[in-house]
Amino acid sequence: KIFSSLKDGSKFIAAEIAATIKSKQAKGENCVLGLATGSSPKTLYAELVRLHKEENLSFKNVITFNLDEYYPLDNDALQSYNRYMKEQLFDHVDIDPANTNVPNGEVSKEEIKKYCADYEAKIEAAGGIDIQILGIGNNGHIGFNEPGSSRFSKTRLIPLENSTRIANSGEFQNISKVPRLAITMGIDTIFKAHKVFLMAWGQIKAPVIQKAVEGNVTDQIPASLLQEHNDVTFVLDETAATDL
Ligand code: GLP
Repeated sequence: KIFSSLKDGSKFIAAEIAATIKSKQAKGENCVLGLATGSSPKTLYAELVRLHKEENLSFKNVITFNLDEYYPLDNDALQSYNRYMKEQLFDHVDIDPANTNVPNGEVSKEEIKKYCADYEAKIEAAGGIDIQILGIGNNGHIGFNEPGSSRFSKTRLIPLENSTRIANSGEFQNISKVPRLAITMGIDTIFKAHKVFLMAWGQIKAPVIQKAVEGNVTDQIPASLLQEHNDVTFVLDETAATDL
């Protein structure tokens, strides 16, 4: 779906999320959301906050699982996705903090394998993800699933590509301060979501969007693997769609 602005595209996704939350509420069920960070979802979160404040959208039945977090990183560090989620969404809606899950960048190296397996199990115990939100990296990564990530990968620790560290270095004092590792949900974890929305805004994303949507299905462009998911929508603004 191509929109004239990122605001319109974000409102479209927010409306889809709100409708799912409400229909689950009516049935007395929880709604499980898979959430992303980065600059792309900020307007979506602002719109969800607006729907909460102005249109009584409640998040009381919502459980969330975030895609990824830098490793190691303190949860209250400025660049932490744990902090980002509180600032952009959780602190402004009526979600129960106990229902929010963001990978923990403070887990010890010894515990990390078990931590990742438990994260995966917790998603399943919640009934699986109803709607998964994704951004896309310039190299085609989704979450922090860098090129080469298997279609069957699960939540795990992964080394970041230098191109990703450079792309994200603006958030840090300098490139040497960008963590070399991250915890990310796997491609398989993402595939189990019932419905997926990938959003991309701006000219800079046009080449990778073309490869992901029209190119071969290859683990070298992890987002291209989504061509084999049975309910995925790429939500783009006109500039991100220029190479299609
Ligand atoms: C980071 C995140 C991804 C995100 C990507 C794109 O690397 N781990 O989940 O999709 O950046 O970020 P942005 O939305 O800022 O372009």
